[in-house]
Amino acid sequence: MVGGNGLIIAIDGPAGSGKSTTARLLAERLGYLYIDTGAMYRAATLKVLRENVDPGDLAEVAKVVRSCEIRLISDEGGMRVLLDGEDVSDEIRTPEVTLHASAVSEVPHVREVLVDAQRAIGERGGVVLEGRDIGTVVFPDADLKIYLEADLQTRAERRLVELWVMGREITVEEVASDVHRRDAHDLSREHSPLQKAADAVVVDTSNLTIEEQVDRVEALARERIKKP
Ligand code: DC
Repeated sequence: MVGGNGLIIAIDGPAGSGKSTTARLLAERLGYLYIDTGAMYRAATLKVLRENVDPGDLAEVAKVVRSCEIRLISDEGGMRVLLDGEDVSDEIRTPEVTLHASAVSEVPHVREVLVDAQRAIGERGGVVLEGRDIGTVVFPDADLKIYLEADLQTRAERRLVELWVMGREITVEEVASDVHRRDAHDLSREHSPLQKAADAVVVDTSNLTIEEQVDRVEALARERIKKP
């Protein structure tokens, strides 16, 4: 499957496992496109909230998401997210969007629309996609599948730092319970639950620095580039 344009690299794992940072830096090192699929589910969620649609109303959610345009564009910091042409890169990170994203991303029609879009962006290769179902559903034939994990405490601390940077005052216990709740939801949902692909390489990032975790996946990617 390695074409002239490069590999399709899938990075999956739970919230706070280090997916975004690793995927973004890996893409930068390889000169690949970086696709944060969670950002697409977040943009869809923002649209649903702005339209005052109940995230539990499947038909309405599907209708709203089908009618909006979500685009990802590369920039120096990694990637910007456009919703109907408006840059919503910061707004999609608010706790409100985070809270409702699990329910919206569970709607089968939302998944269909966004998975199609992800395949269209990634199919030519030279791409690092991160999410929950990339190696299992979006690109089950990806050239390299990485599954990142980290213990709950580590993941909660990472999320806490992100929230503090955004000016939110919240305790580590509150964040841990939120991360735990999201994990349970993402793991148990009916459609495309978070799952390790059988052929994924598992990397536990609990005790790794960012540099170390990126080095590790970069080495795996370079091995695959040499020996398709
Ligand atoms: O990775 P994240 O926290 O930005 O993801 C936001 C939400 O989208 C989260 O509830 C999980 C969901 N998601 C998904 O269902 N499938 C993906 N490929 C990526 C994210």
